[in-house]
Amino acid sequence: MAIDKEVISEIKNSVNIVDVIGEIVSLSRSGRNYLGLCPFHKEKTPSFNVIEDKQFFHCFGCGKSGDVFKFLEEYRNITFMESVKILAERIGVDLAIEAPSQQPSSQNPYQKLFDINQDASKFYHAVLMTTKVGEAAKQYLYQRGLTDEMIAYFNIGLAPDENNYLYQSLSSKYDEDTILNSGLFNLSEQGKLFDSFRNRIMFPLTNENSQIVGFSGRIWAQIDSERKEAKYKNTRSTTIFNKSYELYHLDKAKSIITKTHEAYLMEGFMDVIAAYRAGIENAVASMGTALTPEHVNHLKKFTRKVVLTYDGDSAGQNAIAKSLEVLQDMTVEIVRIPNQMDPDEFIKANSAEELAKLLTQSRISSTEFWLQYLKPENVDNLQAEIAYVERVAKLIARVTSITAQNTYINMVAEILPDFDYFQIEQSVNNERLQVRAASQQTFVRPQESRVVELPVTKNLTAMQRAENQLFHRFLHHDFVLNEFRNRDDFAFENAQLEELYQILCQNGEISDLDLAEMSDDLRQVYYQVLEEHLPEELADDEIIQLENRIDKYRQEQDVRKRSKLIRESSNHGDDDRAMMEFEALIAQRRNME
Ligand code: CTP
Ligand code: MN
Repeated sequence: MAIDKEVISEIKNSVNIVDVIGEIVSLSRSGRNYLGLCPFHKEKTPSFNVIEDKQFFHCFGCGKSGDVFKFLEEYRNITFMESVKILAERIGVDLAIEAPSQQPSSQNPYQKLFDINQDASKFYHAVLMTTKVGEAAKQYLYQRGLTDEMIAYFNIGLAPDENNYLYQSLSSKYDEDTILNSGLFNLSEQGKLFDSFRNRIMFPLTNENSQIVGFSGRIWAQIDSERKEAKYKNTRSTTIFNKSYELYHLDKAKSIITKTHEAYLMEGFMDVIAAYRAGIENAVASMGTALTPEHVNHLKKFTRKVVLTYDGDSAGQNAIAKSLEVLQDMTVEIVRIPNQMDPDEFIKANSAEELAKLLTQSRISSTEFWLQYLKPENVDNLQAEIAYVERVAKLIARVTSITAQNTYINMVAEILPDFDYFQIEQSVNNERLQVRAASQQTFVRPQESRVVELPVTKNLTAMQRAENQLFHRFLHHDFVLNEFRNRDDFAFENAQLEELYQILCQNGEISDLDLAEMSDDLRQVYYQVLEEHLPEELADDEIIQLENRIDKYRQEQDVRKRSKLIRESSNHGDDDRAMMEFEALIAQRRNME
């Protein structure tokens, strides 16, 4: 790629990782670092550190670490070069790097998989539009309220009720690997390939760039009533299809999501289609899986606000409760659909206009959802009422608007026969005071109240620490490195440090590009080295001492290994070997003293 290391370092030096991450994660100062809730895994107590003076982040919960580029890569699910580009733009530098989607298609290793899925969608669509059985399937779709325009827009198709029509139509065009890895075919016990989808209405699934990555097929005619089949069947996971990340219809919805600043999140394909019929084009759906943090990160690329539009039945309400946890740092509103319906059922029972009205005007806040969701089943049970008040008082106290707080207190008072407004307000006020006290404490004495020292050394052996420290000196003091790189008797005991050392010797530094290219494990080791808190000045005999320590640990390791060998040999009756090792051990011990 035509962009050199200096430019990359310059970009990195011109931004502060604390600012970049601070726009996404709410960070508070903690000692020498900043601390917040990790955006990469679910947590309630912050373990995500941003180390300002060294410009990297590290999460003690999930282990993710890296520099500002790495953060953007992971958080926005983009490539290293894309993250470089974003930061370049931020500091007003135009890099003119090509985005990967603009690269020639032959460079994309997944292109063939995209192609075969594209061809399959054309095949399925043609079966729906031009065959006799397709006509019947179209009737089914019409009856569900779709028009030809919508069938075309959602690119809906039909898998024929045949074993291998798709295979016959595509097998001559693609190599075996592509066929096997596409997820479109299964291998029979006889080693024959047959179509994964049979006699199903086919919904193509796309990534956000409108490339088809898989399908979901719905049964529509009960041909074989003996076999109980799942209503929907999805393409299995492939290298291009990750259903914990992809969202149905996001490719077409994303521009409207960006414009309206919100995304409707629904449960089913037919619900997204119903919304579209009602003129709402910023709806997406997860595909038969619960909402994951990956889905949420994916959505965050386009908006910070989600309108949860799940089924009105109790399963749907439980799903909302689960999703709210994953959506913690997003603004969430919830559409409540009456009579246990889903959006598709609602549009059928009412009209497109009614659905549009429901989606845009009947929303509640997540707090109101919890008030109703947590409501005790039996409101005559005083114990249950008290428990409920305690839980919701916490939620209400966190609401910033006082007017909204009053409304919620009123709602709770209405739900509970044994409590009036003032009693509930009292509980909320108690909570509010505690919240304030806690926040003032951190405000006045941020340093003492929440200092979290980096437990870097916790899981490292003494040997690893010594080697890390030596490597730390290599990185920061060229003359130390130069002394060592000419020695052929030196190597790190730790294989990963040795690997990093080789890169360092070859390139004279470990550049951001090197970091971007190395494995996550190796990068982690690199950051572990950086985390060593050493004084800036090198002490006189520090390096010699470090080497001696490493040497001593190595010998101790050898002694341990030898002792083990002796035990094993004598256990196996190999006395000669045991004796030999024993003598070697004695010699070594003498040497060490
Ligand atoms: N789903 C799935 N596998 C199933 C059932 C459901 O993957 N066996 C997914 C589909 O993405 C479906 C969503 O879960 O769209 C919601 O399921 P459900 O509410 O049962 O279906 P509906 O969306 O109501 O589907 P339809 O209206 O076509 O009956
Ligand atoms: Mn439905």
